[in-house]
Amino acid sequence: MRGAYYFLVLGVSITVGAVSVPNVIGNNTKAAAEDAPWIVSLQMEQDDFAFCGATLINSNCREDKNCSGWVITAASCLEGIPRDSLIATLGNLDLSDPSVGIPLNINRSSFTVHENYNASSHENDVGLFKVDFDCNSDEATTCGNFSLNIKSQFNITEDLYDKINASFAGWGLLVEKGPLQKVLYNTSIPLRTDKNCTSLYDHEVFKGDSMICAGAAGFGPCSHDTGGPLACQYEENEKFDKWLCGIASFGDGCGNGNKPAVFTDITNKNFIEWVEKKITETDESVNVRRF
Ligand SMILES: *[C@@H]1O[C@H](CO)[C@@H](O)[C@H](O)[C@H]1NC(C)=O
Ligand SMILES: *[C@@H]1O[C@H](CO)[C@@H](O)[C@H](O)[C@H]1NC(C)=O
Ligand SMILES: *[C@@H]1O[C@H](CO)[C@@H](O)[C@H](O)[C@H]1NC(C)=O
Ligand SMILES: *[C@@H]1O[C@H](CO)[C@@H](O)[C@H](O)[C@H]1NC(C)=O
Ligand SMILES: *[C@@H]1O[C@H](CO)[C@@H](O)[C@H](O)[C@H]1NC(C)=O
Ligand SMILES: *[C@@H]1O[C@H](CO)[C@@H](O)[C@H](O)[C@H]1NC(C)=O
Ligand SMILES: *[C@@H]1O[C@H](CO)[C@@H](O)[C@H](O)[C@H]1NC(C)=O
Ligand SMILES: *[C@@H]1O[C@H](CO)[C@@H](O)[C@H](O)[C@H]1NC(C)=O
Ligand SMILES: *[C@@H]1O[C@H](CO)[C@@H](O)[C@H](O)[C@H]1NC(C)=O
Repeated sequence: MRGAYYFLVLGVSITVGAVSVPNVIGNNTKAAAEDAPWIVSLQMEQDDFAFCGATLINSNCREDKNCSGWVITAASCLEGIPRDSLIATLGNLDLSDPSVGIPLNINRSSFTVHENYNASSHENDVGLFKVDFDCNSDEATTCGNFSLNIKSQFNITEDLYDKINASFAGWGLLVEKGPLQKVLYNTSIPLRTDKNCTSLYDHEVFKGDSMICAGAAGFGPCSHDTGGPLACQYEENEKFDKWLCGIASFGDGCGNGNKPAVFTDITNKNFIEWVEKKITETDESVNVRRF
């Protein structure tokens, strides 16, 4: 069974197998800048498409608008890629318009893939690298608002899933095996309980303790959406900030209601600690930490 789960990472239509990490499918709604200001596109310098999505976390800006932060994505998006050719851009709503988005300077020594990432089982599918950038916004407050929290401000239990609005954005395909996209799309998708996903996937495939699944028929990520953010908000209290509740990892088809997309459950305590440790190790000198 497992051979049927594919991952599209680099290249155009490497539909070598199977599912992928999806791109956003779902009623073809183009994203507005405020939908996902933290979203980062990952491109190879010679390509005009994004092979994966990613998220800016833990960013800090100085008064001169020189900012630093970390980009979190799926391990599968970083493993084995030619790092020197990687281009990361923040808020690039349209990849074909060079005036859109903020280029991120990548610290190419900081690449970190989870030590226990298993490309076959997709476990621990998370990786990070450090960036700095020149916040070109005219409004100083905007600069500090780009990154997404990785911790929620309350304990998430599955009985709250109905009250959580989860949205996903990416440059992936809008239709399985469809054409590459240049514009960022955004969609809202329901979180599914571990029990629900375990019943839909093989127990060997969906591991509820470190993965979360979300999506509905016609809605969810597709190829080249891998690594991108599932952003959650608790609807009963909008004063709670949004947080990163998942990183697109794999799926079985795109927008398959019976096989919702699977995300790395980054709210898992072990992942949060892993991210904090990695960031702290490199960022000793940074005083402010907005995990
Ligand atoms: C899809 O978009 C159309 C038009 O924008 C809207 O009327 C419809 O309700 C949407 N469907 C869903 C399921 O969101
Ligand atoms: C780049 O990353 C390396 C490895 O994590 C770290 O030692 C170095 O301090 C970083 N450089 C900057 C400017 O952050
Ligand atoms: C990776 O996952 C596969 C199952 O998908 C398992 O057979 C293998 O032992 C795992 N590798 C490690 C190093 O845990
Ligand atoms: C921001 O400041 C750091 C450290 O002073 C410097 O290395 C980096 O080039 C600056 N980045 C930008 C985009 O100005
Ligand atoms: C983020 O934006 C809000 C308004 O949308 C503003 O009130 C707040 O001060 C900003 N936060 C930072 C850290 O800039
Ligand atoms: C969340 O749960 C942990 C332990 O389960 C508890 O220590 C902590 O106080 C809780 N936090 C909140 C905000 O309820
Ligand atoms: C796009 O994202 C925003 C913010 O996350 C969300 O409120 C909105 O409903 C999303 N749009 C669609 C069509 O789902
Ligand atoms: C899983 O959840 C979906 C959506 O709520 C539902 O339609 C489906 O019947 C559930 N499947 C199982 C096996 O619980
Ligand atoms: C969550 O979604 C519901 C239904 O789409 C909407 O009424 C509500 O305003 C949303 N809440 C937030 C915090 O976005």
